[in-house]
Amino acid sequence: MAIIIDGKKVSAEVKEQVRLETAQLLQKGIRPGLAVIIVGDDPASRVYVNNKKKACETVGFLSREYALPATTTQQELLDLVKELNNDREINGILCQLPLPQGLDEKAVIEAISPLKDVDAFHASNVGKIMIGDYDFLPCTPAGVMEMLHSYNIKVEGKKCVVIGRSNIVGKPMAMLLLHENGTVTITHSRTKNLSEVTKEADILVAAIGRAKFVGADMVKEGAVVIDVGMNRDESGKLCGDVDFEEVKDKCYAITPVPGGVGPMTIAILMKNTLKACKIQNNC
Ligand code: GUN
Repeated sequence: MAIIIDGKKVSAEVKEQVRLETAQLLQKGIRPGLAVIIVGDDPASRVYVNNKKKACETVGFLSREYALPATTTQQELLDLVKELNNDREINGILCQLPLPQGLDEKAVIEAISPLKDVDAFHASNVGKIMIGDYDFLPCTPAGVMEMLHSYNIKVEGKKCVVIGRSNIVGKPMAMLLLHENGTVTITHSRTKNLSEVTKEADILVAAIGRAKFVGADMVKEGAVVIDVGMNRDESGKLCGDVDFEEVKDKCYAITPVPGGVGPMTIAILMKNTLKACKIQNNC
């Protein structure tokens, strides 16, 4: 039976550390503040944003939500970002993605001040990650690394395969594994003989957004399997990109969905917001 990597537990530990450091800042009259922008009424985004607000409360941050209608114009959104860039109470700005059709995500990301870009999506922060000299790491990949560290799973020298090449997860995930001296392969929808590649992986990260896509036939015996997916199966139940029931007996360790990577993403967001606050206050 595989080790079930407990994202709830590890994320609680990260948040507790952030809470303690925040309490010290509060004594100096400094309170980290996060602004979360949500546009439209995507139900999944609503759940994510609510969880982010809840985490802010847990660690003692100021949190402000800006819930805008789907009819919001690009200019209105950019004006709000500009206002928040200049708001001294706000240290981190997050615009929940995806945005409704017609809004330009890239332009919004680039409008956020890199100093307040706690998602680490801005081109300047992405570039800093590439050269290994960064302030913020993207929340989901950094959450995965934190889980590996917590379970003492070493990356150095291992064959790491990432399925998916998104800017939010796949690409930065590969870079973080590389920083820890993994031998990394990025695969995607055009990869030929995908299972031949994934079966080589000592550490397999699935970030494709397809329910139960990774079956036992794609996994090497004794591998570590990280499931970044958040999907609904045929019966509407939450599930990941990995067929958990099929894969769990074949691997050394595996993350469940829910309760795996998801809570880690939010814990790292808290860590990034605290860091942004410290940088902006020179402490
Ligand atoms: N949508 C899905 N994941 C994320 C994330 O990490 N940050 C933002 N801003 N939007 C998302």
